[in-house]
Amino acid sequence: MPNQLNILISAGPTREWIDPVRFISNPSSGRMGYALATNAQKRNYSVTLVSGPVHLQEPKGVHLKQVETAEQMGKAIFENAKHADIVIMCAAVCDHRPLEQWVQKKKKEVFPNEIKLVPTIDILQELGIRKKENQVLVGFAAETENFEENAKIKLKKKNLDWIALNDVSQEGIGFNADYNQITMLSSEGKKVKFEYSAKEVIANKMLDLIIK
Ligand code: CTP
Repeated sequence: MPNQLNILISAGPTREWIDPVRFISNPSSGRMGYALATNAQKRNYSVTLVSGPVHLQEPKGVHLKQVETAEQMGKAIFENAKHADIVIMCAAVCDHRPLEQWVQKKKKEVFPNEIKLVPTIDILQELGIRKKENQVLVGFAAETENFEENAKIKLKKKNLDWIALNDVSQEGIGFNADYNQITMLSSEGKKVKFEYSAKEVIANKMLDLIIK
């Protein structure tokens, strides 16, 4: 690893607009990604944070790029990934967007009972295809069942070096919480469990492990 590491982190949810007043999204707070960015900055790395809409303070000394949609997030990530030694996709990217996006607010009397959705780009999977030599690629797996099995499938399918397995079925950890409980799985078969702790503590342990 070079001395001055370039690290690219994504955080928060994306918003996929239906019309000017309605969107599809998820409860991600962005706290895990922001904790990773803050920790990496304290280590004097060059940090780029691509963030969906969140209610968090901008971390000091970090290049912050604010985006809304999965498409915008993908564009910002691909631009910056070319120069990154480490990429951590922590964002909860919406997997679908409405096929149609109405320019005017859809009045309730004519609002359809069904909205046709189409898949968004899988940013992490594309990063796995474009991975540079020596680049470390880290993803998250937000799961509610078959935890390790599902995480291992994502690790392989997306060509990752590490995946952070996140149980999002319980209240108080993972999504929209201050605490997290993560199991790190590597492409080389390593398994490291971080007990229930504040996201800042988890961020520190994660970076220690990834950089080792
Ligand atoms: N991810 C991404 N682009 C997407 C969806 C997910 O880059 N369109 C990334 C996330 O940032 C995360 C990883 O892929 O690092 C896994 O996301 P997750 O939501 O757990 O899984 P999905 O791949 O979306 O699959 P599923 O919803 O079927 O569990």
